[in-house]
Amino acid sequence: MRRARLIGHGRYLPERIVSNDDLSQRVDTSDAWIRQRTGIRQRHMAEPNQVTSDLAVAAAEAALASAGLSIDAVDGVVLATSTPDNTYPATAARVQAKLGMTRGFAFDIAAVCSGFVYGLTIADNLIRGGQADTLLVIGAETNSRILDWEDRSTCVLFGDGAGAVLLRADVGTGTTADHGILTCHIYSDGRGYDALKVDGGPSSTGTVGHVRMNGGEVFKHAVQNMADAAMTAIAAAGLTPEQIDWIVPHQANQRIIDAIGRRLDLPMDRFVSTVADHANTSAASIPLALAEAIGDGRIRTGDLVLMQAMGAGFTWGSVLARL
Ligand code: ACO
Repeated sequence: MRRARLIGHGRYLPERIVSNDDLSQRVDTSDAWIRQRTGIRQRHMAEPNQVTSDLAVAAAEAALASAGLSIDAVDGVVLATSTPDNTYPATAARVQAKLGMTRGFAFDIAAVCSGFVYGLTIADNLIRGGQADTLLVIGAETNSRILDWEDRSTCVLFGDGAGAVLLRADVGTGTTADHGILTCHIYSDGRGYDALKVDGGPSSTGTVGHVRMNGGEVFKHAVQNMADAAMTAIAAAGLTPEQIDWIVPHQANQRIIDAIGRRLDLPMDRFVSTVADHANTSAASIPLALAEAIGDGRIRTGDLVLMQAMGAGFTWGSVLARL
């Protein structure tokens, strides 16, 4: 059977680093509060002349280089973002043009922090269904553009960045020994719409808006939904948590990651965590963490990797893959 195998990875973080102390000059907060409640130490922030497509292109180019492929080999670009360059066209189309890709397709996915998991799910289905052989799946965000810099309860939580993977069709036997994506599960529940949202939009206010969040509500659902999605993936593959080599969760808050670890009864050394250095980069958080852990040699070919996310909507889901 066809499998979508991960053959390349890349990441990009803007050079400018903003520490918790830097933020405490701007709003009434402190390094101690932010670290204790979230585990975040710093975040990267795009320069005023950098837009989401610039970050996405840098990560995509790194992914292509790591696979040793040129853009001519790519059949499509799937970009998860909630901070598009423009309301439309899709930022993916701009990424496609900037990469010099003149064939295939490109589209955006709006599933906020779950966007990369949604993107992998769609790409996996496109590849297994024979619609495409090689796809770029990117998560890229300039969250700094939609934060209310007067609101200490949200502006300390997010950062900018991009991560990308290259998926290519491979032949497997249909067992969990195959390389590639093994299971995907995506969910949403629109009853959570107002718990985390950007309070503007083309058809409602005619403005871009700012991030608004009921932190406690989101926290509760994040732990429950990400743990459930992880268990569903493990059960669907006929495995036990102990058999998973690496968990690469959405990076929102270290306390959320710790709570998922307790629910899965897995030690923290199985988890990839970048939240301290990147903060929450929404759709970019999983591919950034994945690229970092593959790049530094922690995650190796053959490892079983479980990714799970939860975001505004609410949306959530999981992808289990063998590298
Ligand atoms: N610095 C100092 N004090 C602050 C700050 C800040 N940056 N932000 C809020 N406070 C204050 C509040 O005003 C409140 O003060 P009060 O008691 O006088 O009213 C106090 O700290 C406690 O606030 P809580 O909201 O109860 O703090 P909590 O321990 O719940 O932590 C947090 C807040 C970190 C936002 C937590 O709820 C959380 O992590 N929620 C998940 C949200 C999240 O990760 N969202 C990201 C997007 S969704 C996703 O990616 C899954």
